[in-house]
Amino acid sequence: MRLLHVVGTRPNFVKMAPVVAALREIDPDGRHALVHTGQHYDRMMSEIFLEELGVPAPDHMLGVGSGTHAEMLARVLTAIAPVIEAEDPDLVIVPGDVNSTLAAALACAHMQVPIAHVESGLRSFDRTMPEEVNRVLTDQISDLLFTHSPEALTNLEHEGISGERVKLVGNTMIDSLVALQDRFRGRRACGEHGVEPGSYLLVTLHRPALVDGELLGSAISELSAIAAEMPVLFPVHPRTRARLGDAAADLPGGLHLIEPVGYLDFLSLEADARAVLTDSGGVQEETSYLGVPCFTLRDNTERPITIEAGSNVLLGLDPARIAEIPALIAQRGEGSSEPPPLWDGHAAERLAAEVAAYLET
Ligand code: UD1
Ligand code: UDP
Repeated sequence: MRLLHVVGTRPNFVKMAPVVAALREIDPDGRHALVHTGQHYDRMMSEIFLEELGVPAPDHMLGVGSGTHAEMLARVLTAIAPVIEAEDPDLVIVPGDVNSTLAAALACAHMQVPIAHVESGLRSFDRTMPEEVNRVLTDQISDLLFTHSPEALTNLEHEGISGERVKLVGNTMIDSLVALQDRFRGRRACGEHGVEPGSYLLVTLHRPALVDGELLGSAISELSAIAAEMPVLFPVHPRTRARLGDAAADLPGGLHLIEPVGYLDFLSLEADARAVLTDSGGVQEETSYLGVPCFTLRDNTERPITIEAGSNVLLGLDPARIAEIPALIAQRGEGSSEPPPLWDGHAAERLAAEVAAYLET
């Protein structure tokens, strides 16, 4: 096999680490080149994930950095084309829905190189989200579409994509979590921030619809109020940090705004949380696997399966609803939730077998 794997952002590393490992395992003599676009570049948004997930050093660092959507897409397209040319892969594997994903896929489509899309078929049906545009377009030009939940198959069918190209393999992000269970369970990362396991609300917020406008200040006010009855631990994404401004001044003692944490620490914080408030896609999934109550501060989710599983509640894009979280937690009690089928730690093995079968035909 001659494969090219593309990563660029924090969630990409988590989704792709097991894919790269499983393909190396079944074809140790093949070429498994890794491209890091550099969309995320801070140590705590990038390098620490490669280290903790045991991903080999990337073969190509494109260093595209931050910018407007147009700038990022253009820089990845320009920088990745010569890499594709030089590597001459049989297949390029792209994960998720970020700008790096679409740009890499588009370069391949123009160069007539087959594309495999990991986490295909998710839909929020909200085209104001850049991720939704990226997903829809990437799926349209992919040759192999790896899905992690049954509704993805239906979504793709509605867009005219079906048959042999689409493979339900499960969730590779959960593979990463499962592989590191021994290292994060019992890690008690919350202790470093002075809070007790089972006592606190863990928060991540980074979607432009929430943090790029006035809603962010309202969310911080609501979290300040909650902090009086329940400690709040909020590792702040760099997009959010850049927009906090005065909202981060004079915070109450129970509201801890901290830097983004590494993957092992974050899994530990999730596993030990009383509940999680988020607008992250990956965090909705991980809490679903861990059985931790999750409240999603968005109007929609491309992961309705996490609501069906019983772990996730869609609050709406309305910071005022944060005030309801303690009562909602009490109502829910110790309620049970089950991870969706094929979120079992073996998705990447199934994916690798499908890649092998595809390349044999
Ligand atoms: C991107 C993805 C989003 C994903 C998120 C994961 C797109 C359109 N969005 O959003 O789907 O959920 O990554 O975290 O691709 N920055 C730093 N250091 C970094 C990276 C970013 O300071 O290492 C700052 C920069 O000011 C940058 C801003 O964060 O402008 C936003 O980064 P960007 O990659 O454009 O989008 P994200 O919000 O991270
Ligand atoms: N994550 C992390 N540290 C943090 C916040 C999140 O390691 O401070 C991990 C989390 O466990 C998940 C991934 O980052 O695996 C989710 O990424 P993010 O929320 O940035 O993106 P999204 O999933 O929304 O695209």
